Amino acid sequence: MTRDEIIRKYKEYLFPSVSTYFAEPLVTDHASMQYLWDADGKQYLDFFGGIVTISVGHANPKVTDKIIAQTKRLQHASTVLPNEAIVALAEKIAQITPGKLSKSYFTNSGTEANETAVQLARVHTGRYEIVALRHAYAGRSQLAQSITGQNTWRKSLPGAFGVVHAMNPYCYRCPLGKTYPSCDVACANDVEAVIQTTTSGRIAAFMAEPIQGLGGFITPPPEYFKIVVKIVKEYGGLFIADEVQTGWGRTGKKWFGIEHWEVVPDMITAAKSLGNGVPIGATFTTPEIAGSFKGLQISTFGGNPVSCTAARAVIQVIEEENLLENAATTGKYFQDGLRELQNKHALIGDVRGMGLMQAIELVKDRDTKEPAPEATNQFMEECRREGLLIGKGGMVGNVIRLSPPLNISKADVDVALCTMDKAMAAVANKAVAVGA
Ligand SMILES: Cc1ncc(COP(=O)(O)O)c(C=O)c1O
Repeated sequence: MTRDEIIRKYKEYLFPSVSTYFAEPLVTDHASMQYLWDADGKQYLDFFGGIVTISVGHANPKVTDKIIAQTKRLQHASTVLPNEAIVALAEKIAQITPGKLSKSYFTNSGTEANETAVQLARVHTGRYEIVALRHAYAGRSQLAQSITGQNTWRKSLPGAFGVVHAMNPYCYRCPLGKTYPSCDVACANDVEAVIQTTTSGRIAAFMAEPIQGLGGFITPPPEYFKIVVKIVKEYGGLFIADEVQTGWGRTGKKWFGIEHWEVVPDMITAAKSLGNGVPIGATFTTPEIAGSFKGLQISTFGGNPVSCTAARAVIQVIEEENLLENAATTGKYFQDGLRELQNKHALIGDVRGMGLMQAIELVKDRDTKEPAPEATNQFMEECRREGLLIGKGGMVGNVIRLSPPLNISKADVDVALCTMDKAMAAVANKAVAVGA
């Protein structure tokens, strides 16, 4: 099929809600490590990795070769017939998760991982209410949409019962109009008032992303989670860390984002980077919590040998190539470069993130912080033209999300920064030309 046929059929046969980036959709053809090629043969440096999912490079042969071998050997038999791939992965995960999270339940997506965690928290505590955060994204099932704190992604009505939302630690746009650190992290302390005034006081769990992903890589101050988790524990709730975007070394130095905040969750949910593009979801918890689910449960494809083989290989590559360290050092180098761009381009209101999870928030005016979603789209188009793929996020789509594979080099970062610099200048010039 030609590129145009693919675009036409995409529109004709898929739900219109399956939206695409760019005025003219980019039709993908193939990819290798940090590069992706479109149907016209144009090469791109991929700094979004299929939505924060390509962790060790597209079609990394160290992963792909094992996927091919496992596919030929055994692709599926379901969890009623154990195989080596699922236990090899679960055993490895038990070694690298924080605390006593030695039990795994495998599914197919982040949405299902979160569903599993919330259901288990309810069964374990005998309680129902969940505290989530504004600007969260938790997936597309009815429950996950109800945990999501962004109207753009909440379409099914009525939502699931028993979910309340606390303010998120969005320092650039503080929901309380305060400034860190003189705020004393008031948003964290307010979680107690949320529990007291919007729940029965007997909560099942607090669920949050260590850095909010789709919300725009919103990075909390270091004290935030310590304060909130203490409150949650006082009210008898479990703490579920949604690591769908932050897991597997993305934030640098540590396997999981929550480890930076020095609290140990009762459950972790994961997906995306764990499979490097192969569908997988997973929920990790303690033997005690996992043991409170007494009935039967099955996920037909959950923990299938091919996904588990891919995930085990991803973890091996991260370990062998010291990618936790690379994500930290290259991520720091990247953030420094983004701050230099911020000094040069007024459009960049904020730079934030950790490791290879970096974002810039675009604003029309640094004093008013009025979001600049149109300029964000133009910036993405310019980057595409120059051969760089980036993502976006934020409530109104004015945050650029940057999540390259963990094995990129500083030279790749230099190329990305140079392209972004050019693209920023082009967007600013166009704004001047139209008198904006
Ligand atoms: C933090 C977070 N949780 C859950 C999900 C849902 O994952 P999935 O799309 O695999 O269902 C996402 C997806 O973007 C996510 O970013």
